[in-house]
Amino acid sequence: MNNKEKLISAAAEAALKAYAPYSRFRVGAAVLADDGTIYTGVNVENRSYGLTICAERNAIAHAVSMGMKAVKAVAIYSPDSKEPLPPCGACRQVITEFSAPDAVVICCGSNENAVEIPVSELYPMDSLHNLKKF
Ligand code: THU
Repeated sequence: MNNKEKLISAAAEAALKAYAPYSRFRVGAAVLADDGTIYTGVNVENRSYGLTICAERNAIAHAVSMGMKAVKAVAIYSPDSKEPLPPCGACRQVITEFSAPDAVVICCGSNENAVEIPVSELYPMDSLHNLKKF
C-alpha cells in the first residue's frame, strides 16, 4: 500500500467512528503531517445542530494537539457518499492555516473514485496568509 492508499484507508477506517446520529452522514478525515505521521478525525454532531464539527477540522485539531507542524495531504472519506466528498468552506479555511504550499486534498466516496486536488485550487485567493504571528 502506498502513502496515498494508507491515508485514504485511515480516513475510511476513522469514518466508522463518526458521531452522526442526526444526519446519518459519516465522514472520516486523515491528515498526513510533514514528518509522515497520520492523524485522523471524524464528524462529531450535536443535538444543537450548529455545534457540529466536521471530520476535517477535527483531524486538523487532533494533529495540532499532537505537535504537527505542517499538513502535506488530507484525505476525506464518507461511506455514505458514492461521489468524492470535498471539504466545506470552513474546513478549507482551516486546512490552509496549516497546509504546506504543495499540499493536496484527496476527496473520496464509496465508489473508490478519489479526486486529488491541490489546496491552492480548492481555496484560491486565500486571504491574510502573512498576518503576523506572535
Ligand atoms: N461533514 C463533514 O464532516 N465533512 C464534510 O466535508 C462535509 C460535511 C459532516 C457535517 C455533518 O455532521 C454531516 O457531515 C452532514 O453535513
